[in-house]
Amino acid sequence: MEPYRIKAVEPIPTTTRQQRVSALDRVGYNLFGLRAEEVMIDLLTDSGTGALSAAQWAAGVAGDESYAGSRSFHRFREAVEELTSYPHILPVHQGRAAERVLFSALLVPGQITLSNTHFDTTRANVALSGCQARDLPCPRARNLHRPEPFKGDIDLDGLAAQLRGPDSSRIALVIMTLTNNGEGGQPVSMDNLARAAALCREHGVPLFLDAARFAENAYLVTQCESAYGGHSPTDVAKEAFRLADGCLMSAKKDGIVHIGGFLGLRDEALARRCELTLIATEGFPTYGGLAGRDLEMITQGLTEALDPRYLRSRAEAAAHLAALCRGTGVRLVEPPGLHALYLDAGHLLPHIAPHRFPGHALACALYVEGGIRSVELGSLYLGKEDSNGDPVVSAPYELLRLALPRRTYTRTHLDHVGQSLEAVVRNKDRVPGYRIVEDAPLLRHFRARLEPVLAGPGIVGTTGAAPDHGEGPDDRSESAQNRSRARRAVAAPPATDGRRPA
Ligand code: F0G
Repeated sequence: MEPYRIKAVEPIPTTTRQQRVSALDRVGYNLFGLRAEEVMIDLLTDSGTGALSAAQWAAGVAGDESYAGSRSFHRFREAVEELTSYPHILPVHQGRAAERVLFSALLVPGQITLSNTHFDTTRANVALSGCQARDLPCPRARNLHRPEPFKGDIDLDGLAAQLRGPDSSRIALVIMTLTNNGEGGQPVSMDNLARAAALCREHGVPLFLDAARFAENAYLVTQCESAYGGHSPTDVAKEAFRLADGCLMSAKKDGIVHIGGFLGLRDEALARRCELTLIATEGFPTYGGLAGRDLEMITQGLTEALDPRYLRSRAEAAAHLAALCRGTGVRLVEPPGLHALYLDAGHLLPHIAPHRFPGHALACALYVEGGIRSVELGSLYLGKEDSNGDPVVSAPYELLRLALPRRTYTRTHLDHVGQSLEAVVRNKDRVPGYRIVEDAPLLRHFRARLEPVLAGPGIVGTTGAAPDHGEGPDDRSESAQNRSRARRAVAAPPATDGRRPA
């Protein structure tokens, strides 16, 4: 059972299927555009969406809001240094601010960063610094469905080849993302991390941890890496931080807070350079974009996130939802991690081509069916099309992520997700694909507007005719008819077992 009971509750809004269909149309079929009250179960992200503990709220009230030298900062700094061993701790308002501050001090245009997999904001911040982000996931990660441990590892041969190769002089840093969010939330083993650290040391390249989910990674190490069987998650986490030169932390994940993060650094000169950007863009170094109460809540949250009973209940919640998903015939990235499940939408919806976004199609269908919000990690996120909507680059996999906010939803909420997925699966052949009608130059999945397109064989071709927004006679054209049929298909599949959809 969960090692906590519930003290404050928030009502879940109830919406009808028709309201959800209309909402989806209004927001251009992009779930990021929905209002929270249009969502019943929000599995969009585990970031900043967790429930605070009574101890965190209490700590927040004790926050010291002094502009400079806040008592809360010093408590926070000492706790974070004790955990990470880094003497320089710079608070920031969230993880991507840590990325911007570090990269502006460390990267020069033309350089390269290497990672087991860069998270999307990390990649964007590398690009904004005029540099190139290269991912080196381990080859085992390619087999999505095989439940091997530590598929979040970096490819050590690939790393060695890069560090010794023709571009070696341009490699500025290596980032290990724990757990590896871009590769199905899979953990990184301590063995892999230690070997990557040794390679970085040998080549004089600094190693940073993207530590957003460091506690969950540490827990999975205690469960799956034999050398760490008897260790506590805290001991494993401390050892991981000690292997690196610094960390970027989004405390919205394993700090269990609504906002916050930090940059931890060993190198004093680098810390001084980062402080300049911090002061100019985040705040004075003793608050860095946060209130004193936020710093107190993070200090407390970091301890709670490492509690083995809490971590185990989180693993069990993920395992429960994974079993429900498998029961519907949906394939998952295996084994399930802790912060999210990644559903193989490409396998479930083979009639939808990658550039018609099967992961996104599943996200929309799940929203219409059960009011559940999730996010695509496939070709909408990573792909590229030409001006006709024809594919230029497709993602390697078409996934849908169901993220699990911390301490927020109960097993019956997860049961609702399982039942909704089952209803979608029953009608999977009728789920339409999507095409982009309004793009964005960077991180397009946040802002793009889309429209449904029928993509089944014999219904309409899967190559994209240019969208036709004309009025009048054009509405009678084949593409206009297809568009209106596709819109109807979004609403179409009601539950067929006599159960009334919510
Ligand atoms: N690194 C990783 C591995 C992340 O997952 C995230 C955010 C960040 C950095 C950036 O941190 O949001 O505090 O600025 N991930 C969220 C997600 C948004 O939904 O996976 P942030």
